[in-house]
Amino acid sequence: MADKLIIFDTTLRDGEQSPGASMTKDEKLRIARQLERLRVDVIEAGFAASSNGDFEAVKAIADHVKESTVCSLARANDRDISRAAEALKGAARSRIHTFIATSALHMEKKLRMTPDQVHEQAKLAVRFARNLTGDVEFSPEDGYRSDPDFLCRVLEAVIAEGATTINIPDTVGYAIPELYGNFIGELRERVPNSDKAVWSVHCHNDLGMAVANSLAGVKIGGARQVECTINGLGERAGNCSLEEVVMAVKTRRDYFGLELGIDATQIVPISRLVAQTTGFVVQPNKAVVGANAFAHASGIHQDGVLKARDTYEIMRAEDVGWSANKIVLGKLSGRNAFKQRLQELGIELESETEVNAAFAKFKELADRKSDIFDEDIVALVMDESVTTEHEHYRLLALSQRSEMGERPHAKVAFAAGTLEHHAESDGNGPVDASLKAIESKVQSGAEMLLYSVNAITSGSTESQGEVTVRLQHGGRVVNGVGADPDIVVASAKAYLAALNKLHSKMERVAAQG
Ligand code: KIV
Ligand code: ZN
Repeated sequence: MADKLIIFDTTLRDGEQSPGASMTKDEKLRIARQLERLRVDVIEAGFAASSNGDFEAVKAIADHVKESTVCSLARANDRDISRAAEALKGAARSRIHTFIATSALHMEKKLRMTPDQVHEQAKLAVRFARNLTGDVEFSPEDGYRSDPDFLCRVLEAVIAEGATTINIPDTVGYAIPELYGNFIGELRERVPNSDKAVWSVHCHNDLGMAVANSLAGVKIGGARQVECTINGLGERAGNCSLEEVVMAVKTRRDYFGLELGIDATQIVPISRLVAQTTGFVVQPNKAVVGANAFAHASGIHQDGVLKARDTYEIMRAEDVGWSANKIVLGKLSGRNAFKQRLQELGIELESETEVNAAFAKFKELADRKSDIFDEDIVALVMDESVTTEHEHYRLLALSQRSEMGERPHAKVAFAAGTLEHHAESDGNGPVDASLKAIESKVQSGAEMLLYSVNAITSGSTESQGEVTVRLQHGGRVVNGVGADPDIVVASAKAYLAALNKLHSKMERVAAQG
């Protein structure tokens, strides 16, 4: 039997560290459930000690996810590790991932510790974690830029203390595939007890080589775990992208000879969910999950694909979860058909109340839009009024007047808790006027970092517009998403959704690492 390659997803931890990608507990839980459906082996759910919000999110994921191992990051100290263990208590399988920097630069300038102190702290941390769980991962942060002799000494010590996975991060995305692959191979050769642990790769994408480096770590270095994120989400240029690594290993099984536990048909749904949740849209020409990844525009290619698909296609779109925009439901569809479609899409709503709220939204939409696609249903359940948790502000009515050559004017009615506000304003455009009207009452003072509009289903102006608004206030960054056939209404919904998140006491301290 071929070796197994472990897929460790860190969208909810390293991915979320990307400025602007912070997620609420509910959003994280929804993504974690989808990751479980994708059958990733390990879900790094967060950094429990970094904030109460992160602790609660890790705990919720540990309590709900049963098929994947749930992991929390922890700095190499007793407090962080205890907090991680506490958050993971409810998990069917849990892992503590502890780390400390080992490069000369990080030890001297960031930690202000000597190599001997780092060596000792790494050992003690792994010993402490192993007393709390049998599954402990150790990462030497900035490992790729660390002195190999010192690194071998640290790794031998932590394996002797019981670390079961050794992860070698290329924290700053400096590696080159062949060099990184050789580096992993040499470490495995030189560390005397290396066979007692699974070796893992963790690559950042600063030079655009995170996937190539990770695959070299596997092929040349013999690593058997890859750390990655959906859509390559992550700080700066992001992390190694899960969908690319998975499809490379699957498509080129002849070369890698490795087994994966992943259900690739769940790739596109989760890619969409992560993009919708974070507002980080996927570029059209992105491998596997980009809108054009399977589109053939040139006549020669189209002709070839029609005659024999494998002339120009090395993967099948449906194998990674692309389905043609199918009309799935309409005005006459009943609650049962709607509920069944939710199930088929892998969407689990918490309660019958939520199903009812989603169904009411569906009916409203079906009255205005004759054909309802899967993408519409996903957008509909992303609407916060379905999962009522943070809904302080709620759009009640909106009208606007715009005419070429005239300054647009908007009137908006919205609820704020039990109060009803009516506001109006001019603006540069109808969207600007509507948001200004809302802001004139809310007076959030938030700074807008992003406003983006996408058509939910391509190819027709009948599509719903999906708007993402990113706001910053008091050191917090939040995303709001709204969908509606009318993009001005979608914009007002997105703005109120973002204000709801600022309004809730969701705590978020930027995680370090
Ligand atoms: O990039 C990095 O070094 C990390 C570690 C904390 C694993 O994310
Ligand atoms: Zn990282």
